[in-house]
Amino acid sequence: MQIFESPADFQSYALSLRAAGRRIALVPTMGNLHEGHLSLVRMAREQADAVLVSDFVNPIQFGPNEDFDAYPRTFEDDCAKCEAEEVAAIFHPAPASMYLADASVSLVEKSLSRFLCGASRPGHFNGVCTVVCKLFNLAVPHVAVFGQKDAQQLAIIRRMVRDLSIPVKILATPISREPDGLARSSRNQYLTAEQRAQAPALHAALVHAALLYSQGERSAPVLVESVRSTLATLAPLANPEYITVSNADTLEPLDGPIAAPALLALAVRFGTTRLIDNTTLPL
Ligand code: PAJ
Repeated sequence: MQIFESPADFQSYALSLRAAGRRIALVPTMGNLHEGHLSLVRMAREQADAVLVSDFVNPIQFGPNEDFDAYPRTFEDDCAKCEAEEVAAIFHPAPASMYLADASVSLVEKSLSRFLCGASRPGHFNGVCTVVCKLFNLAVPHVAVFGQKDAQQLAIIRRMVRDLSIPVKILATPISREPDGLARSSRNQYLTAEQRAQAPALHAALVHAALLYSQGERSAPVLVESVRSTLATLAPLANPEYITVSNADTLEPLDGPIAAPALLALAVRFGTTRLIDNTTLPL
């Protein structure tokens, strides 16, 4: 497995793979790899000859009061996991090589980021779009794999690819979960034992609401209230930031009947740790 720190060297390598007729799959990550990330790598491997993983804690997607400095960095461990998954190369740049001091061009997403996580994280998805677009230009992938865990991010990347005519196919993996249902996340390790014990309630609340939906309940407010009350019962330490039913494409919140594929998504805080989860409500 090759390790690249220089964006120019990584791009030359990827272009030479392309020139040799290899099919490239990119898995963008911020490192601290867990089983969830590895499920993306495995899907990527099924799609391509060469899997490239980026491992970069992207400073421009963190707000001033967020956990950029504290974000766990475990590069050696990440390399071992990627090597075991037959990744062809890891890209691990320094922030200063990705964002030059006089950089003056970046991307802005104007619509889907008004809702859900974007509402409380101004600029976050602009930072995600800018870095992912750069990673696409560096890795020149045929396909790129993202997780349904970050449903808003996935919808925004699909929109970016559509709106900027980027020639890459976006694939999504289902949410990878711990045996008790908690969605795997680098942030789970911040939870205290008591918070960790209550955290599976996020998934339990979504599963219960999805059951009501499958039994015919089509009122968005009723489903939201069901999630709120399950959380209040099973996870009294959780402070919900949002619980929302949205149009699956536009992410516009629905406050009446559900008549198109929808996304039931939530973000809660346990102390300062923010967790997200979601389920799709197919028609
Ligand atoms: P990160 O949080 O490291 O996640 C990298 C990818 O792994 C994302 O596509 C995310 O949705 C996916 N992922 C994380 N946990 C998952 C789980 N439990 N199940 C399925 N997929 C999971 O998302 C980012 O990094 C960054 O915003 C990035 C896209 C790399 C841009 O900086």
